[in-house]
Amino acid sequence: MCGIVGYIGHRDAYPIIIKGLQRLEYRGYDSAGVAIYDGDSINLSKTKGKVEDLKKKSEATMSLDGKLGLGHTRWATHGVPNDANSHPHYSNSGDLVIIHNGIIENYDAIKKELINRGYVFHSDTDTEVLVNLIEEVKKKENVKLGKAVQIALNQVVGAYAIAVFDVNKPDEIVVAKLGSPLAIGIGEDEFFIASDASPFIEFTNNAMYLDDEELAIIRLGKEIKLRKIKDDSVVYPSIQELQLNIEEIEKGGYDHFMMKEIYEQPRAILDTYRGRLLADQGIIKMAGIDENIEKFTNANRIIIVACGTSWHAGLVAEYIFEDLARIPVEVEYASEFRYRNPVITDKDVLIAISQSGETADTLAAIKLAKEKGAFVFGVCNVVGSTISRETHAGAYTHAGPEIGVASTKAFTTQITVLTLIALKLAKEKGVFSQTQYHEYLTELENIPSKVEKSLLSNVLIETIAEVYKDSTNCLYLGRGYNFPVALEGALKLKEISYIHAEGYPAAEMKHGPIALIDEQMPVFVIATKKGHYEKVVSNIQEIKSRKGKIIAIVTEGDVAVKELADHVIEIPETFESLTPLLSTIPLQLLSYHIALMRGCNVDQPRNLAKSVTVE
Ligand code: AGP
Repeated sequence: MCGIVGYIGHRDAYPIIIKGLQRLEYRGYDSAGVAIYDGDSINLSKTKGKVEDLKKKSEATMSLDGKLGLGHTRWATHGVPNDANSHPHYSNSGDLVIIHNGIIENYDAIKKELINRGYVFHSDTDTEVLVNLIEEVKKKENVKLGKAVQIALNQVVGAYAIAVFDVNKPDEIVVAKLGSPLAIGIGEDEFFIASDASPFIEFTNNAMYLDDEELAIIRLGKEIKLRKIKDDSVVYPSIQELQLNIEEIEKGGYDHFMMKEIYEQPRAILDTYRGRLLADQGIIKMAGIDENIEKFTNANRIIIVACGTSWHAGLVAEYIFEDLARIPVEVEYASEFRYRNPVITDKDVLIAISQSGETADTLAAIKLAKEKGAFVFGVCNVVGSTISRETHAGAYTHAGPEIGVASTKAFTTQITVLTLIALKLAKEKGVFSQTQYHEYLTELENIPSKVEKSLLSNVLIETIAEVYKDSTNCLYLGRGYNFPVALEGALKLKEISYIHAEGYPAAEMKHGPIALIDEQMPVFVIATKKGHYEKVVSNIQEIKSRKGKIIAIVTEGDVAVKELADHVIEIPETFESLTPLLSTIPLQLLSYHIALMRGCNVDQPRNLAKSVTVE
């Protein structure tokens, strides 16, 4: 996610802002910028790269004096990482300066309207559109900045945390929030603005957090004016005295990035389908698919290449694409695919899945497929990453930076994107009626709240982890859509707790693994109601009769498995094809707690890197 920092007060703004941006580096970003008002004009510097690069550039090219300023670290969503797309952004007049964290979904339509009114744009960002919309409203309605922001934000759809100031009113900053975090630090004759408290906690621990759809007018020497964006009604600020330290703030109050990212999944899934899934209109909008739809509908097959967790997401996609869209799919480990001299034709579509967008084997597989004429589509989480630039088209997950080495929100957001594509193709190919399609879109919109509900088992899961934390081997079993989840659960456990774990299709028990079953062998079975539930129940009986320990993930309200298993973790019911988005949650939590109890470094497990950029 982007990081925003602002300052207005009696100190020099520049050092506070730069240090504040450094505090926010943990959020992940690809460019940075700063704008300082020096009492006469605005001095602005921004660059692709790191805060260190910004420091060098701004200290070599601009005056750093001034008591009012804004700073930003950008995690690209619209427009690749480059200097022009970095924030802050000016309005056309040069009077307004804005920084923004979030996504304006309807920026395209607004941009067209503003161009018709003579506005020119210097970047590909939604943010530059927003600041010019505010300027247009301010001029047309002849209102102050605060009112113009309030009116403008009622015309946008999306998520934002913004800070904007007017060079003609340099004792004021206006901020607003919907969906992205925004904190205001309140000092003696000074105010701080930031994505979280880490940039200002050393100056003040008095803070207030804007709620969604709130706007604040921050003016030196005055009380903060808080308003509802919808109707400009007054809101009374509640100021907190923060007790958090820097590290706790960076992890959002969680002990580890991995736990923070597990709990971010409802928001990450929502952000990933935001602007794409329009259930009320019964449509899915995905430019990368819309512009290439024939490539998919006329393809002989879809080849999916990936590594690790992304490969597991690809396996889920195989079930979804074949089940729903009736398109043949093959899932390949990129590291095998690139060397086995595969048969690839120009009637193939290759989908490359990668959180980092930098995995060497996946990149090599893409290059091989392109050489052989296949159409290559990327599913990445990092805008402007190598894989996203090497593919013919793609769709980003909007999970935000994933810091923990063990992939969690990347997995569920990859499945979200792949599900959107499969549903879109199923409709395009006429496999789905409009009613069926609408039912799927509506259920997909229910998933974030069902993930929230699945997370409620965390305390129960921690007690189960206590029982099995000293195991030396574990088995994970699942059928159908839950088979890839069994593999993913096993990977999560082994990569952060160093316990050997294997995932298997439940029916494979009799072909070998059942020889492993005894009272020392914990078996995690995904036995949700949909699919071949009865067959999984009989697999559980086979394990029980051999004294295996059974930890089952079941659909809430399940009775049959409850009578057989040693432990049961319930998740909400959903469509069979959407079950992986929920059944994976308990397994993420389980691996986290077991690893912690074993004293492992959950965020940076031994021998592992977040992105495997070499063979
Ligand atoms: C998963 O928890 C691991 N971090 C690893 O398997 C990872 O999924 C794999 O290296 C692929 O990375 P990518 O998605 O960035 O390409």
